[in-house]
Amino acid sequence: MVRRTWLISLFQALLVGAIVYLVVLNLMQLDPFSEDVCACVQCIAGGKKDPWFRQRYKTLVPKLMSRQNSKLSTNTSKWWQSLQIRHGDVNYSAVVKTLFSLFPDKEHYSDAGPHRCRMCAVVGNSGNLEGSHYGPLIDAHDFVIRINAGPTTGFEKDVGSKTTHRAIYPESAMDIDNSTHLILVPFKVLDLQWLISIFTTKHIKRTYKAVKSTVQANKDKVMILHPEFIRYIHENWLQKHGKYPSTGFIMLVFSLHVCDQVNVFGFGARKDGKWHHYFDKKYGVSYNGGPHSGNTEYNIILELEHKNKIQIYKGS
Ligand code: C5P
Repeated sequence: MVRRTWLISLFQALLVGAIVYLVVLNLMQLDPFSEDVCACVQCIAGGKKDPWFRQRYKTLVPKLMSRQNSKLSTNTSKWWQSLQIRHGDVNYSAVVKTLFSLFPDKEHYSDAGPHRCRMCAVVGNSGNLEGSHYGPLIDAHDFVIRINAGPTTGFEKDVGSKTTHRAIYPESAMDIDNSTHLILVPFKVLDLQWLISIFTTKHIKRTYKAVKSTVQANKDKVMILHPEFIRYIHENWLQKHGKYPSTGFIMLVFSLHVCDQVNVFGFGARKDGKWHHYFDKKYGVSYNGGPHSGNTEYNIILELEHKNKIQIYKGS
């Protein structure tokens, strides 16, 4: 009899322990099923113990859109609408339906685990890449993520030639080769409509400025960044500094979620203080102007390096 009571107490204690564990994980927004480890020497997801990183890095936020996860929370919907030039006249659900009748509708990058060591290079467009000779090093990564119109042809020595992913939005689009994933960063519903249009009717030629009405890219490799993920970066990482994050910073945080080790190239000013692109000397505006908070973004990138989460290659 005593033995049975003892067993029941033990069972109750274990049950309470399990519930407390799950509640704590939930409060900390940690995914109990996500793997903490990888096969690299150092794993990005392995440092959730660091409070600064833990406060910012949330694995449960959807990264890429699918038909299943396309519904937006009230907060995201409100924030996203506030970035748009046109209000209220688009049927978002109908757009999503068309999107996933054209583009792959699947769960990407849920393959983290102890046997994976995915090395990623995130390549920004800073002039600090000029004369860097980083090309071969960049090309040695599993994923090479490039941003907007940053070219490779003619710049191979410094920026490499491999591109596995290119993040664009309508106003920054360029043609993309057949083996590269086009990642659309949607800052507005019109961007989703534009993505449909470039592969079908080609009728959208203007957003707030003239845009490419057709883009060469592999339709089966298209991915669409989730608006929830963009708001998560704006709020959790940037603490709402700037109007919205830069495409480069968005891709850097994205890489923290889909890669095991991240090396960063072409971010920040050159050593002489200039901010121009490696391919465009006329471009000289600091990222601290306009909608982005360049200083906040760069300080976070430095902090990530300080915490051994990424390595920055600072170039010239
Ligand atoms: O200028 P653009 O947005 O096309 O550049 C791509 C990204 O590279 C930016 O979003 C920014 O994050 C990064 N960049 C930078 N410093 C520069 C130029 C670009 O950090 N001088």
